[in-house]
Amino acid sequence: MEQFLIKPFMFSSIALFLLCLLFSSPLVSSQLDYRHYDKTCPNLIRIVRNGVRLAISNDTRMAASLLRLHFHDCFVNGCDGSILLDETSSFKGEKNAVPNKNSVRGYEVIDSIKSEVEKACPSTVSCTDILTLAARDAVVFAGGPFWNVQLGRRDGRTASDEDGVVNQLPSPFEPLANITAKFTSKGFDSKDVVALSGAHTIGFAQCSTFKKRLFNFDGSGNPDPALDSSVVQKLKSVCPNQDDSDTNLVGLDASSSSKFDNGFFRNLVNNSGLLQSDQALMADNSTAFMVRRYVYYPSSFFRDFGASMFKLGSLGVLTGQDGEIRTNCRALN
Ligand code: HEM
Ligand SMILES: *[C@@H]1O[C@H](CO)[C@@H](O)[C@H](O)[C@H]1NC(C)=O
Ligand SMILES: *[C@@H]1O[C@H](CO)[C@@H](O)[C@H](O)[C@H]1NC(C)=O
Ligand SMILES: *[C@@H]1O[C@H](CO)[C@@H](O)[C@H](O)[C@H]1NC(C)=O
Ligand SMILES: *[C@@H]1O[C@H](CO)[C@@H](O)[C@H](O)[C@H]1NC(C)=O
Repeated sequence: MEQFLIKPFMFSSIALFLLCLLFSSPLVSSQLDYRHYDKTCPNLIRIVRNGVRLAISNDTRMAASLLRLHFHDCFVNGCDGSILLDETSSFKGEKNAVPNKNSVRGYEVIDSIKSEVEKACPSTVSCTDILTLAARDAVVFAGGPFWNVQLGRRDGRTASDEDGVVNQLPSPFEPLANITAKFTSKGFDSKDVVALSGAHTIGFAQCSTFKKRLFNFDGSGNPDPALDSSVVQKLKSVCPNQDDSDTNLVGLDASSSSKFDNGFFRNLVNNSGLLQSDQALMADNSTAFMVRRYVYYPSSFFRDFGASMFKLGSLGVLTGQDGEIRTNCRALN
C-alpha cells in the first residue's frame, strides 16, 4: 500500500513538473523576458514611449493604427515584423495583401522610432519588439490599460503571401464562428476574442467594411436589422450608396474614437456596433454575457485586454539564433 501514497517530495516534483510544462507551453514563452535589453539598450523603453507620444500628438488616430499594426504582425505567422517588410522582386510584401493594403497604417512611425533606437543601440533591438512596445504605449496614451511586455523577439526573414494573410486574419464579412475558429487555432479562447475585439473602441473603418449593412443586408434590399435604425440613418450620410464613398471613414466606436474605454461594448448592447462581425458578439449568448460584463465592469475589460494582448505578443515568436535583428524594418539585412 505504502508506495501508492504521495509523499511530500513526490508532491514537489509533481509541482515542478507542472511548472516546467507551463513554461514550455507556446503561450508562456520561456525565451522572452522582461529585462531583455536592460543592459544592451537601457533607453529603449523611453525612446519608444516618446516616439509614440509624438506620433499620437500629431495624429490621434495613430494610437489605433499602431495597435492594429501589431495585431496584423502577430496574427499572421507570429510576431516577426514581417508586415513591415517592403515588397521586392523576390517576394510580394505582406503589407500589400488585400486586408492590409490601403488600410494598415503606422509604418513611418515604426521607422522613425527604429532610427532613434539604432542611434542609441545599433543592431540590438528587433523591429517586432519595437512594434510590440509601441502598441502597448499607444493603448496607454489613449487611456487604456498598461500591461508588461516581454522582449527578445527577433525579426523574420520571410513575409507571408496573400493566402497566408487572407486565411489567417479575421474578416468583417465572415461569421463569428469562423472568426472564433481562427483565434482558437492560435491558442485563444472566446474570452480573448471578446476582450481583443474591444480594440475597436479606438480607430476608424472605411465604409466598404460595413456598407452592405446599410443598404442591402444579405441581399434583402434592406438594412441589417441588428443595426439601430437611427445609426443607419447617420451612417448613410457619411457612406452614401455609391462607390466613391467606399474609403470614407467612420469611428469604430462613434461615441469616442480616440478614447480607449468600454464604449465599444456599450454600443454592442445598443445595436450600434459598426462591423457586422463585432455586432455578432451579441447574437451568441456565450459571448454576449461577456460583452455585458465589460459594460458593467470596465476594469474587468481592461484586465482581460492586457492579458489577451500579452498572449497576442507571444504568438510564434522567433528567439535565440532564429531570425535576425533588422537594421531597417522595411528590408532584410
Ligand atoms: C475579431 C476580428 C476582427 C475583425 C473582423 C477586424 C476587422 C477590422 C476592420 C474591417 C477594420 C477597419 C479597417 C479599414 O477600414 O481599413 C479594423 C480596424 C481596426 N482594428 Fe480590427 N478586426 C478584428 C480584430 C482586431 C483586434 C484583435 C485588434 C487589436 C488587438 C484590432 C484592432 C483594430 C484597430 C485599432 C482598428 C482601427 C485602426 C485605425 O484606425 O487605423 N482588430 N478591424
Ligand atoms: C502627421 O500626421 C499626418 C497625417 O495625419 C502625416 O501625414 C504627417 O506625416 C505626420 N507628421 C509627422 C511629423 O509625423
Ligand atoms: C466559414 O467556415 C466554413 C468552414 O470552414 C467555410 O466553409 C465557409 O466558407 C466560411 N465562411 C466564410 C464566409 O468565410
Ligand atoms: C443605450 O443607449 C441609450 C440611449 O440611446 C443610453 O441611454 C443607454 O445608456 C445605452 N446603453 C448602454 C448600455 O450604454
Ligand atoms: C440565449 O438567451 C436568450 C435570452 O436570454 C434565450 O432566449 C435563448 O434561448 C438563449 N440561447 C441559447 C443558445 O442559450
